[in-house]
Amino acid sequence: MSHIPYLEANKERFLNELLDLLRIPSVSADSKYAGDVKKTADFVAEKLKAAGADNVEVCPTAGHPIVYGEKIFDASLPTVLVYGHYDVQPADPVELWHSPPFEPVIKITEEHPEGAIYARGACDDKGQMYMHVKAFEAMMQTNTLACNVKFMIEGEEEVGSANLGTFIKANKAKLKADVVLVSDTSIIANDTPSIDVGLRGLAYMEVEVTGPNRDLHSGVYGGAVANPATILCQMIASMHDENNHITIPGFYDDVIVVSDADRAEMAKAPFSLDAYKKDLNVDEVWGEKGYSTVERTSIRPTLEVNGIWGGYTGEGSKTVLPSKAFAKISMRLVPGQNSHKISQLFKAHFESMAPAYVKVNVTEHHGGEPVLTPTDSVEFGAASKAMETTYGKKPIPTRGGGSIPIIALFEAELGIKSMLMGFGLDSDALHSPNEKYGLFNYYKGIETIPYFYKYYAEMKK
Ligand code: BES
Ligand code: MN
Ligand code: MN
Repeated sequence: MSHIPYLEANKERFLNELLDLLRIPSVSADSKYAGDVKKTADFVAEKLKAAGADNVEVCPTAGHPIVYGEKIFDASLPTVLVYGHYDVQPADPVELWHSPPFEPVIKITEEHPEGAIYARGACDDKGQMYMHVKAFEAMMQTNTLACNVKFMIEGEEEVGSANLGTFIKANKAKLKADVVLVSDTSIIANDTPSIDVGLRGLAYMEVEVTGPNRDLHSGVYGGAVANPATILCQMIASMHDENNHITIPGFYDDVIVVSDADRAEMAKAPFSLDAYKKDLNVDEVWGEKGYSTVERTSIRPTLEVNGIWGGYTGEGSKTVLPSKAFAKISMRLVPGQNSHKISQLFKAHFESMAPAYVKVNVTEHHGGEPVLTPTDSVEFGAASKAMETTYGKKPIPTRGGGSIPIIALFEAELGIKSMLMGFGLDSDALHSPNEKYGLFNYYKGIETIPYFYKYYAEMKK
């Protein structure tokens, strides 16, 4: 029996359930939504149970809960641990959404002629996570589940997964599995399937620059006392040189250099710079000299200002020389680099370059390590064959620019490799206004996942 007719017969319900899930605003970063985050966990748990999972639990943590469920039916079969997240990024700036972020609507676009769901979390990661719940249901209903399965769906991925680390360390036996299967990354295009074999790490910092002991009249004092906003901008600007290399001493020391042969292989994947610029409405791209756009967002580390503020930003104008200025700055890391070491290098550099006119305070937010997964593994073979079956094309191995900090921990703590079989598009506006997920992508994911189980069980024998 195949899972396909079951999927065909239940398409509408599968979609409606996802729309219900998207209506709950599970913003993990904002404590105002804590109740909704909990509701979302309960929703996922209930659907897992209904799909046929045993021992379903909503596990409390010091933060948001983790949903667990399993179907263990044959000790001789391999076990797949499905990881995903039900939390989402804040929807701000809400005024830039064409429809309310937590009231999903389906619209047809040039990119998604079969329709796309517009809502926060549509792609990242509710849509992609829920494909696994529905694929599991389809396998249960059609008696085609080919592996044991454990689900671990968290509610804090978008805020650094701090409590998931503790959960994993405390539940090693319970989480024992042969592979972690994750759909939280993207493919190149709907007619060009790909599999992420790498993720970048992350070191996230916050800086505070203090000048005078109070906000000052900018006419009375301006020009004679350093403005911390100006100094902060100068310090930030100095962290890239004229080639857009990062100037923090030691920053590149541990970077594993990708060989020319591997770079040539990467360059074969289809990529249109014109389409990229058009999508973003920019006339030119920017980045580290000597690297292509694809390389800049995959094999090279970066430093970005994620937010900068200080002084008066309200309505109208106020002539003020602010006492303080702030910025949130994050660095994407590549294999070889370590987030703790990079955080320390950043802190030491930022403190050492502060001029005497100001005092600086550097604090560290969350971090995570980069990952690289092999392409000659059983799990890659199974994922590749699964995608080839449903897309009619072999997926291209690629390296993603984003980060999923917990993936490195799966390997370090549980000794299990992860398979990043994502189905979204980079242009799905993750973390941006008008996030979307194609219906094609949603259904294609549900169709493909059962083949992964099937081929993984066969190839593992
Ligand atoms: N799903 C993304 C990561 C991602 C997106 C990887 C696209 C590859 C392609 C994940 O939810 C995410 O946004 N991660 C954060 C890190 C986290 C610590 C906030 C990120 O990459 O900024
Ligand atoms: Mn995600
Ligand atoms: Mn995300």
